[in-house]
Amino acid sequence: MTRPVSSAVSSSVSSSVSTYPAPAKLNLFLHVVGRRRDGYHLLQSVFRFLDYGDTLEIQARDDAGIRLLTPLPGVAPEQDLCWRAARLLQQHSGCRLGADIRLNKRLPLGGGLGGGSSDAATVLLALNRLWHLDLPRKTLRELGLRLGADVPVFVFGRSAFAEGVGEILTPWLPAPASYLVLIPPLHVSTPSIFADPALTRNTPSVRIAALLDGYGHNDLEPIACARYPEVAEYLGWLKLYGDARMTGSGACVFVAFPERVQAEAALAGIRAEHGSQVDGFVADGMDQHPLHAFAD
Ligand code: C5P
Repeated sequence: MTRPVSSAVSSSVSSSVSTYPAPAKLNLFLHVVGRRRDGYHLLQSVFRFLDYGDTLEIQARDDAGIRLLTPLPGVAPEQDLCWRAARLLQQHSGCRLGADIRLNKRLPLGGGLGGGSSDAATVLLALNRLWHLDLPRKTLRELGLRLGADVPVFVFGRSAFAEGVGEILTPWLPAPASYLVLIPPLHVSTPSIFADPALTRNTPSVRIAALLDGYGHNDLEPIACARYPEVAEYLGWLKLYGDARMTGSGACVFVAFPERVQAEAALAGIRAEHGSQVDGFVADGMDQHPLHAFAD
């Protein structure tokens, strides 16, 4: 779960830096079922974690500083979700400790894989332990929602059927699967996809009991495909292998396979046909977040 990578740091708070995973998510489907008065959209979705993602090295500090050792280019610390998560937890708990955070980024920005949200959730979960706060999961979920609609599910820590803006979560176990995920070479702006006048905002609500594997579609997909031809192109490649979909507001697209070797063969086939530069990866579905035990 956590792996000490160094013990040569002098601190009265913690003698080691540990590495914490921040897994990617897929939206197996994503229906827009309404809109709140504040403009946020009401969704129904199934979130599934992948055994692939970012990692964060985090060490507690015995002063109150929050330091990003790997700042994202062009992003001020106060806008970085990891920094904001740590500061929010500090303010909420009154904790006088701080943190050094090193982010090893594998997940694309604007990819629909929940990278930034997952990083923020991992900061909340890891610091809840490193700062000995013992805050309940419910509180961390509420803090997470203040950072973004996708953060609560990572704190929830299980595959889930999501409603509301993504914060009403019910455990849901999809069938085991391996996924081929392709990463088109572009960043999608989530607000602009949700703001598109052509977006379907009245997909009928479904009851969880009616969900079957393969159910549904992604209402954001036709909007992203119309704006970004590469999303439609990459989706077309995957559709030869099954019921391919976009995740979140894109740009990433995915298709499920029963066996990992099938997903790997499909990725090799796509690269043979369309070029070795096609970015993507194969990952297994994961039903529980690796840091699930970090909150009760
Ligand atoms: O929650 P997050 O900050 O990731 O959302 C980014 C933007 O996407 C929001 O500011 C909003 O414009 C749009 N959004 C939405 N409905 C949601 C989630 C996001 O309209 N349920």
